[in-house]
Parts: sequence; C-alpha cells; structure tokens
Amino acid sequence: MSVDTTQAPTTHKALLEWVSEIAALTEPDSIYWCDGSQEEYDRLGAELVAAGTAFKLDDSKKKNSYYFASDPDDVARVEDRTYICSTEEIDAGPTNNWRDPAEMKAVMTELYRGSMHGRTMYVIPFCMGPIDAEDPKFGVEISDSAYVAMSMRIMTRMGEGPLKAMTTGGDRAFVPCLHSVGFPLEEGQADVPWPCNEEKYIVHFPEDRAIWSYGSGYGGNALLGKKCYSLRIASVMARDEGWLAEHMLILKLTSPAGKAYHIAGAFPSACGKTNLAMIDPTLDGWTAETLGDDINWMRFDKEGYLRGVNPENGFFGVAPGTGWSTNPNAMRTIDGGNSIFTNVARTLDGDVWWEGMTDENPAELIDWKGEPWTLESGVKAAHPNSRFTTPMDQCPILSDEWDDPKGVRIDAILFGGRRATTIPLVLETSSWSHGVFVGATCSSETTAAAKGKVGVVRRDPMAMLPFIGYNAGDYIQHWLDMETLHETPHLPKVFYVNWFRKSDDGKFLWPGFGENSRVLAWIVGRLDGTADAVQTPVGFVPTLDAIDRTGIEDEVDDETLAAVLKVDVDEWKQEIPLIEEWFTKLGERFPKQLWKDLEDLKTALDNA
Ligand code: GDP
Ligand code: PGA
Ligand code: MN
Ligand code: MN
Repeated sequence: MSVDTTQAPTTHKALLEWVSEIAALTEPDSIYWCDGSQEEYDRLGAELVAAGTAFKLDDSKKKNSYYFASDPDDVARVEDRTYICSTEEIDAGPTNNWRDPAEMKAVMTELYRGSMHGRTMYVIPFCMGPIDAEDPKFGVEISDSAYVAMSMRIMTRMGEGPLKAMTTGGDRAFVPCLHSVGFPLEEGQADVPWPCNEEKYIVHFPEDRAIWSYGSGYGGNALLGKKCYSLRIASVMARDEGWLAEHMLILKLTSPAGKAYHIAGAFPSACGKTNLAMIDPTLDGWTAETLGDDINWMRFDKEGYLRGVNPENGFFGVAPGTGWSTNPNAMRTIDGGNSIFTNVARTLDGDVWWEGMTDENPAELIDWKGEPWTLESGVKAAHPNSRFTTPMDQCPILSDEWDDPKGVRIDAILFGGRRATTIPLVLETSSWSHGVFVGATCSSETTAAAKGKVGVVRRDPMAMLPFIGYNAGDYIQHWLDMETLHETPHLPKVFYVNWFRKSDDGKFLWPGFGENSRVLAWIVGRLDGTADAVQTPVGFVPTLDAIDRTGIEDEVDDETLAAVLKVDVDEWKQEIPLIEEWFTKLGERFPKQLWKDLEDLKTALDNA
C-alpha cells in the first residue's frame, strides 16, 4: 500500500516517507490520519462499541466515556520484554535488556510484515509538552489500535495542531513511534475484543530516537508518548542536552501565609504519585494544585533554577484505591466524563466501580473479566492495575501554570517508595550529592503495574529503573553533574518519603493521602528554616513536635509517630549489603563518589 500524498494532511517529507514505508511493510486495509477532534473521538468510540471491543458508559453516569477489558494476559507493562537497543551494549547498561539494533530490527521487521492486515493504520501526530515550547518535542505514533488513538487524544496534545506545528518554519524532527498489536486479520477472520500477541516487544533505539512496540495494547506498552518517549527516549535527550526527564509528579503547595512552593516527587509505579499530585490537604489553611502526576521534564532557567514541565495532557491513573475518601480530586476529574476505563468492574446500571471507590461494595457487578460478581465471589472485581485515562483539564485543582512552556521552579524533590520497614516517613538529605546518593539507593516493593511478582523489594533509582533509556551508571552520574551544568545552580532540596511503613501486625502506621499534607508542611518548613529536625546517620528526620498532628492525635499517637519516624540502626545495617550488591551491579560506569558515600554511611551507622 502506498500513501496518497495528495490526500495526506501534511507536506512533511520525512513523515510521509515513513508512513509509506510502514504501510508497505504492515499492509493495513486503510490509513487514517488522526485530527484529534471530538467528532473523531466519538466516531472511533462508536466503531469500537459496534465491534464489541468497547462498552459505552451511561451518559448520565459518565458522559462520553468508554469501558475496555483487555486480554487477561495484557494488563501491565512487560519489563522483561522491554529493550534498549543502543549500538554498544554498555550504553544500555546493566539494568536494561539489550539487543543489537540491526538484529532487533530484522526480527521485528518480520513480525510487522503484514501485521496490520484487515485493520486501519492510524497515524497519530502528537506533541509532548506545550506546542508553543521553545523546543517542542514532537512524535508520531503509527498504530493499528483505535483504543490507542483515543487514549493518545487524552494523554497527549494530539492531531491537527501538532501536525501543523511540525511543518512550521520547515520540517521539524519527530520521534517515530511504531505500534502494532500483532493480530492481523486474514480474509473472513473475525476480530477478538482485545487483539494482542503472546510475543511482545517494547523496543527503543536511543541513537535513532525511535520506538517500536509490538504485541501489547496495554497503556504503558502501547501509548508510546508516555513511558517510551517521555521517559526512555527523553532521558537520553536530556542527558545529551543537559536536563532531566523524570518519573515524577509536580505539585504546587500554598501555605496559610500565602507562600507557594513547587514540589516534584519520584515514586515507582503504583506508589502514590497520582494521589500526592491531587492531594486534598487536611491541614488547615494549606492548598494544593496539580501540575502533573507521572512525568517531569526539568531544565535550568537562566538563573540556574530547575524548572519542571509535565509533558502529558491527561492522567493514566491506578483505579483501585482511588475513592472519595482517598483522592476526591481524581474522582471529580473522572466525573467530568470524557474518560476511558480499562479492566475496572462495571455496575449493572452502566457505570464503573473498583475496590476502594466507595466505603461499601456494591452487591452486584460485572468483574473485569466480564463475569457476574457478587460480594460472595471472593475475587477482586477490578484488576489491581486497572486504570482510568482522563483529561488533565478536568482536574478541579489544576494549576494555571500546568501548560506554561516555561514550567515552574522546583523547590523540593521527593524520592519515595513502598517499604514496610526501615525507611522513615520522611528524611531530609544534606546536599544535592547526598540527595543523589539517596535517590540511587531507593528501593520499593514491586506492584501490579508491571508483570511479575508483587511485593518484592527491589532497588529502583529515582523510581526510574524501568525507564532509564541508557546506562544507569551514566544516569546517576548525570544527576551528580547537574551541580556543574550551570554556573550558578540553585538545585532543589532532596527528601525521601515513605507513606507505606507498617506495624508488626501488618497495618499501615501512617494514615497517608490528605494527611500527607502534614509531611509536606514539614518539608517546606525545612526549606524556610522553620521546622525542627534531628540528625541521624541517614539524614534529618522531624522531631515528634515538628509534625502537626492537630485533629489526628488519637489515630497517630506519640508512639505511632515515633515508630513511623524511627531510624533503626540495626535495620539500616541490614540494608548495607543490599546496597553494596546493587552498586556492584551498576558496574564500571557507576560514580565512584557514591561508593565513598556508602563507606561514610557505614561508619556513621557503626558510630551511632
Ligand atoms: P502512582 O502509580 O505512583 O501514581 O500511584 P497512585 O497515586 O495511583 O497510588 C497507587 C496505589 O497506592 C493506590 O491504590 C493508592 O490508593 C495507594 N496510595 C497512594 N497514596 C497512598 C498513601 O499515602 N497511603 C497509602 N496507604 N496508600 C496510598
Ligand atoms: P504510574 O504510571 O506510575 O501512575 O503507575 C504507569 C506506569 O508506571 O506503568
Ligand atoms: Mn508511571
Ligand atoms: Mn499515577
């Protein structure tokens, strides 16, 4: 199939050539250029409903919203099928899967050959971040999935606008993102509700700035603007261009005195970014506004401050646990409609439901596998990694600055994770390089966001383990280098938080969610020099009085607060061999300085 360039809505030469080349390879029935309009979204939705792939929710419950159930085997990111194909293996580093790029291209070219038979090839132009940015980051995804096209309209700036901007002042560079579900339909073959392939590849060519994805329709594997572009490929761009592409939320916090702070937070998938980004502070007089819930691109401004921009346009949030009592602002965002729900449960009256949405479970549901569900079923009605995909601009606490191409000055960076033991509720690092050390040693229990075992502690540097597009040793060195990349750097202060510490009987010690505002208040108090702390071998932690417990004194008594803040020297000593093993794994390019920092930590623990 060749592209009729007189019909194509662009003159971009490289784009037209690429579209022709892919059409010739994948042999779709037709080619469709997405314009990003409401009419288009409605039409694709209606087509998917007619095909039995989507279910339209009742408009009186959630307007313009659709429900999808994936293949039960295609519910999460597939890290063991994710590759960084740099020319040299060492450039992918010890934490990524690597294949020779030419070999990988040969294998995948055969998979793509004819893979779009019987399907429409969607050409999806998009921009990550505001289109009017100084250096807009364009992409074009080619996909044979209408679910992907609809989701990309929510998650990115997609369609006519970016396509036009791509030829303004000459043809602009874009990242080609090729995606096929790998389920061709031969003559007379009926489609399935969720086409995908057992064989999956999520592949990045960092030197070509290109992405090839095959076999999965799941968000993180298929919406290529998100993890693949904005983290894996962008982290390489950021290394080359002197900035940071990070797995972080961005939040604006205003104190009772009216002072505003911008806070970024890097937590692994399903460890609380979306919730913190939309926090409803329980502490009197504090307000929060959302800028981003998953990705933060930070660049220096002239004065040497790091400014953060969220490149996305929507939220792809974990559904279970999102409810009126935990994250009311997410509930309000979703209530605006225009959303896509994947692998949640359905109510009998055409709405969606998941564990944690309401205090009481409904008596009857249709579970994510399409089976009737009752309170006696004994299984989860929604998949633990079920998701809502919803537009940013419906968030009631969205900050005015959310689409400012200049971004916002980041005052503090939080690293975090899910640890039942050892890591205190919050600790403050003593310098940028100490912050990098702490970020490099971060660990978290695995979650349902990626295929594999849940609840296993693994090291996850800066919450970027699955998303660093190059050698992790170089990546950590790049973080250290931020101190030297500007003449007058004013880098954010770095903190480590853990909302997930548990008591011996397995209960969360800290109430979390809106109550995390009490921790944020301490953090900004430290920025201003007004909050008290004690020094420990691992950093500064709040004194018992320094966390405002007004209204929760009963739930969080002195003993509980002490337990959640405790730096237990013996527990930390047990952490040391794990960190040593991790640093060893990071290999020859891992900065030597951090080995020295580890020696200092050992000495401090021995002397404590
Ligand atoms: P993200 O994937 O990092 O954006 O994480 P989410 O904000 O979507 O949260 C993932 C899961 O952790 C959800 O089930 C939340 O309900 C839960 N969670 C988020 N914040 C907290 C918290 O402060 N305490 C507890 N106990 N759970 C939380
Ligand atoms: P999350 O984003 O960080 O909100 O879970 C999706 C993912 O990381 O797969
Ligand atoms: Mn994420
Ligand atoms: Mn999230």
